[in-house]
Amino acid sequence: MRLAILTSRIRVEEKLLIEALQKRAIDFDVIDDGKLLLDIERGSEEWHKYDAVLCRSLSQSRGQAVLQVLEAWGIPTVNTATVTATCNDKLATTLALVRAGVSTPRTLLAFEEATALQGVETLGYPIVLKPVSGSWGRLLARINDRDAAEAVLEHQETLGGYQHQIHYIQEHIRKPQRDIRAFVVGERTICAIYRSSEHWVTNTARGAVTSNCPVTPELNALCLRAAQAVGGGILAVDVFEDAERGLLVNEINATMEFRNSIAPTGVDIPSEMLEYVLERAGARVEVL
Ligand SMILES: Nc1ncnc2c1ncn2[C@@H]1O[C@H](COP(=O)(O)OP(=O)(O)O)[C@@H](O)[C@H]1O
Ligand SMILES: [Mg+2]
Repeated sequence: MRLAILTSRIRVEEKLLIEALQKRAIDFDVIDDGKLLLDIERGSEEWHKYDAVLCRSLSQSRGQAVLQVLEAWGIPTVNTATVTATCNDKLATTLALVRAGVSTPRTLLAFEEATALQGVETLGYPIVLKPVSGSWGRLLARINDRDAAEAVLEHQETLGGYQHQIHYIQEHIRKPQRDIRAFVVGERTICAIYRSSEHWVTNTARGAVTSNCPVTPELNALCLRAAQAVGGGILAVDVFEDAERGLLVNEINATMEFRNSIAPTGVDIPSEMLEYVLERAGARVEVL
């Protein structure tokens, strides 16, 4: 049994995963995705020594590309390339959630400034604009009036990159100074946290404080449906509490951070993740 962890940097999360591997005496390599040179037609040989590869790439595009290649070579990966691609793309995620009948904030899509503005005014202020790919709450905008909408849309079109030419316009959910981050591993919601902040953006990368959120049967059922909608695996589901509609799924993350979630929940997230990877690798290894 040999596993590989794909990452260009050992963060707290990777350290914890490595400790979990060592505890089980599982052989593993840490592979720096930055150093990879993949020979698409011939390069699969050296990878077949791995029973599974866990993608922890910091770069979403890089991770996704490597997963695609490994999957084509028949190497089991966590998560799969398709699941990762769906989660990396907020539009694809929204489509998957809607298709599966999972409640999610209302979202409009537009491609030109004028129609985007029309969309913004259809939803009514405040609205949220976000890049379809991105994380850590970066480049999100809550827009309170037409002046701001015009300015941000113009900035996106003029200064933004390729992905800002797609305007992803979402209703703003008046959530109670927090959202929920639930961790799904395979068929279970293993734990969840509240992310509380004075700021409307509640990513921990933006300073939100974490505390335990009980996994009610309702939360569990919703998160499992959301995870299934994108193909399942090891996933972090962002959930909003809406006063009228109840729980709404905002987005799903395929390469999640979990360092701030172990202490408040008391759940050994890296061990749970590893058990799942071992299952994918077709093995069961006892903890020493
Ligand atoms: N439609 C919305 N209504 C209210 N808050 C939102 C909305 N969209 C995002 N947020 C806030 O911004 C945070 C980051 O947004 P998210 O869509 O999860 O992007 P990221 O991939 O950057 O985490 C959310 O956790 C939430 O606190
Ligand atoms: Mg998020």
